[in-house]
Parts: sequence; structure tokens; C-alpha cells
Amino acid sequence: MSQTDRTVKQTRTRPLRIALLGCGVVGTAVARLLTDNAGDLTARIGCPLEIVGVAVRRPDKNRSETGVDASLFTTDAEELVTRADVVIEVIGGIEPARSLILAAMKHGASVVTANKALLAEDGPRLYQAAQECDVDLYYEASVAGAIPLLRPLRESLVGDDVRRILGIVNGTTNYVLDKMDTTGAGFGDAVEQAQALGYAEADPTADVEGFDAAAKAAILASLAFHTRVGAKDVYREGITDVSAADIRAAREMDCVVKLLAICERIPSSGGGDSKGGGDSKGGGDSKAGNDSAGGISVRVHPAMIPRTHPLAGVREAFNAVFVEAESAGQLMFYGQGAGGDPTASAILGDVVAVARHKVVGGRGPGESTYQELPILSMGQAMTRYHISLDVADRPGVLAQVALAFAEHNVSIETVRQQLLSPDPDSPDEGRASLVVVTHTASDAALSATVDALAALSTVRAVTSVMRVEGE
Ligand code: NDP
Ligand code: HSE
Repeated sequence: MSQTDRTVKQTRTRPLRIALLGCGVVGTAVARLLTDNAGDLTARIGCPLEIVGVAVRRPDKNRSETGVDASLFTTDAEELVTRADVVIEVIGGIEPARSLILAAMKHGASVVTANKALLAEDGPRLYQAAQECDVDLYYEASVAGAIPLLRPLRESLVGDDVRRILGIVNGTTNYVLDKMDTTGAGFGDAVEQAQALGYAEADPTADVEGFDAAAKAAILASLAFHTRVGAKDVYREGITDVSAADIRAAREMDCVVKLLAICERIPSSGGGDSKGGGDSKGGGDSKAGNDSAGGISVRVHPAMIPRTHPLAGVREAFNAVFVEAESAGQLMFYGQGAGGDPTASAILGDVVAVARHKVVGGRGPGESTYQELPILSMGQAMTRYHISLDVADRPGVLAQVALAFAEHNVSIETVRQQLLSPDPDSPDEGRASLVVVTHTASDAALSATVDALAALSTVRAVTSVMRVEGE
């Protein structure tokens, strides 16, 4: 663009037209910030913004706190996106959000969205549409609320090689686990509190079953490893099976339980890794991975972490993400991961960025997937287990348990035995609790060991199994 073009565009008098799709927890905060901060936003962009409509399901609901004229609320989102320069999508879910975003782009609008579910389900189609329509697609708010994380990955760290991302990326589950640990709150009560505070998704199953964190992990891994990773590629376990016994077991180990998102590059067993190499996803079985190829592992599951680890101190609905890159070393991002205002902050940042492009020309970075690394199965992930067993207290039991580990090539790091009071149903039999923490092994070997332990006649029950991370 020539200097003359730039000057002409910068002095445009027509405001940039903003269409807001959705006015719930996040949309309400976005609308309010757009109206309250209009003067500063104009100065920062070089052009005023004008809200031309807000699409909702219930147009007659009182939304005076937004500061938006009541006549601008509409149920006709399809029409609204045809007359905007920038569309902010905060409806959530797959449809109609996807069709509206695609239609908006077709009409020349840049799009800002917080919709991780849609990006993880069908991101490539949206990135391609943005490219074809020569518009921006920004989505900072889709992962970790207010925390600037995607732009650092997409831009600041793009000259480096990211090795690992380890983080708490779901506020609701962190809130629930924190309350269970610190106040002894029940699971259901803690979820209700998170919903009331506006952290949870419309259907909190997405949070507690780990779908929300898995979608975020897919977005992070795609950006970090220049490889397409979708929600279906992410191994996922939520927190609904985390029991009071698990929380207690963690406390006894001086650990806390957190729902973690882990994205890591696994070198090939030959020593190098398969970066840019021949293990493309298109090649036969490579997506399922194989032991020697190397690739990336993307997973979401609860794990124990030591109380001394910085992630253990992440309380309430806060999020925190460690990024480890080849040259940068370790970086930590921390802040509010959910809620209306924090999420709106990230959205407004994106709005300013795409609006500036509308004023002076140019576009932000598009999708980068040139590495096409294979995505490994959960069985190939390397991790450690904490296993609590209720066993018969008789000679040879410890030896049997140790043999089950040895047969699966899993090395034991620590064992702790404690006598338990006899079971009222078999008062003559001695009982003990055995707590075993392993060294690192493949998840497949660890999981097979647990199956073998459960099948031992001397093991009365496997009372808690949890992965251990953060060392
Ligand atoms: P809400 O459920 O609070 O709000 C959804 C909004 O979309 C409502 O205003 C609703 O209208 C409107 N809506 C629903 N369906 C339609 C439709 N078919 N046409 C027009 N409008 C519709 O969701 P949130 O604000 O919590 O979340 C929005 C997005 O932001 C989601 O993608 C979510 O994942 C993401 N996000 C949320 C965060 C949070 O902390 N809540 C944090 C980060 C991201 P009405 O008001 O009339 O019901
Ligand atoms: N439901 C999500 C959470 C909102 O609890 O983290 C932020 O993406």
C-alpha cells in the first residue's frame, strides 16, 4: 500500500461497523466496553466504531447495562452480518455460529470470536475462508480468557521452536477442584457456584468432561507445532471421576489435583524428532502414531502436581500456562481464564487489531500447518502414575505387587504402606494401604500395570489412580 493510500484510509470518516453476535456473559461485557471506551478505541484505531446491531435469541430482554440502544437488538443475525466491517461472534457452539462467520467473511467482514468449540471442530475451514475472503480471523479469547497467549504463540514465538505446553486452561474445573481441596465442597455445589459466576459453558458438561479444555489444547497445539490438531485428536478425561479419595490421596502426597492440558513434542526414538519429516498425517497409520516415529502428544486429564509447583497455586477460576521453547526457555502466562470482563478484554484487543487492519490495510497471520507432525496415541505419552491400593496384609503381597510393575517394565519410585483397620465383613484378615508412585513410563505400560494389579487376588481394591505431572 502506498503512503497516499494509507493517508486516505487513515482519514476515513465513515465509522467501522461492528456487529455483535450474542449478548450473554461475554457479549454483555463486550458491548459495555465498546460503548464505555468508545473515545479511546477511536483514538487507538484511528477511526470510530459503530455498533450496527446485536444478534440475540430474546430481543425484548432488558439489556440496559450494555449501553446499547434497544432498537439495535435483533434476532436476524444472517442479515446483520451482511452490513458489518467487523463481526464479533460470542454465541458459542457450532451452528449457527459457523454459518454466520462464513457469511460475514463472504461479505468482507473480519471476524473476532471466542468460540474454541467451533475452532477445534472446524477451524481449518474458517481459516481458509478468511484467507480466500482476504479478511482477518482473530480468536485470542478462545483460550485462557484474558491471558494474552495465542498472539505470543502466533507471533512472538513464531521464530522459536515450542517444545511443550503445560497448563490449566479451564476456569470452571479449576474452581471446582480448588473448592473441593480447600473447603471440602461437594462436586455438584462447586459446579453450581462456577455457573453462577459466569465461568461455565452454557452446558457445564463441556467443562467438567474436559471438552472445553480439549478444544483449547487443540488450538494451542496447532499454533505451537504448526500442525492441524482438532478436538478429536486430543486425549480427554474430565474431572467427574475425581473422587474425595483422590483429593485426599493428593493431599497426603503434598500434591493438588488439577485438570491439565499438555501439548508436547515427542522426539523419535532415533534421537531426532520428525519435524518437517516424512511422517505426514496422510501416510497410512501415522496419525495413530508408532513407537519410533516421534510426533506430538496432546492430552487433557486430571493430574497430581506437587504443592510447590507454580501451577498448584493457581486458585479459583484462574488459568496459567507454561510454554517451553527451544531458545526462549520457560515462559509462564497467568491470569483470569473465564468470566465476562476478562474475556471481553481479549476480544477488544482483537477488535482493535482487526480494525486497524481495516483502516491501514494488511491482515494478521493465517493458519500455519506446514510441519504436519503425526499425532501420537495416549498410550505413547510418557507420564508417571500415583496408585493407591487396598491390599491383604500377608506375606508375599508386596512382592506380587512389585512383580506386576516389573512385568510391565514400570519402575517404582516410592512405596508407602500403612495398616488399615480390618474390614467388618472379614474381621480376621489384615488390611493395608499401599501407595505406589512410579517413575516415567509409557501410559500404555502404566495402564496395563493397573489392570494387572486389579486382577491380583490379594488386591482388594484399586482406590485411586492418578497421573503425576509437574516435576
Ligand atoms: P452465553 O450463553 O452467556 O451467551 C450466548 C449468547 O448468544 C446469548 O446472548 C444468546 O441470546 C445468544 N444466542 C444464542 N443462540 C443464538 C442464535 N441462534 N442467534 C443469535 N443469538 C444467539 O455464552 P457466553 O457469553 O458465556 O459464551 C459465549 C462464547 O464465549 C462461547 O463460545 C464461549 O465458549 C466463549 N467463552 C466464554 C467465556 C466465559 O467465561 N463465559 C470465556 C471465554 C470464552 P439470549 O441472550 O437472547 O439468550
Ligand atoms: N467455560 C470456560 C472455563 C470459559 O471455565 O474456562 C472460558 O473459556
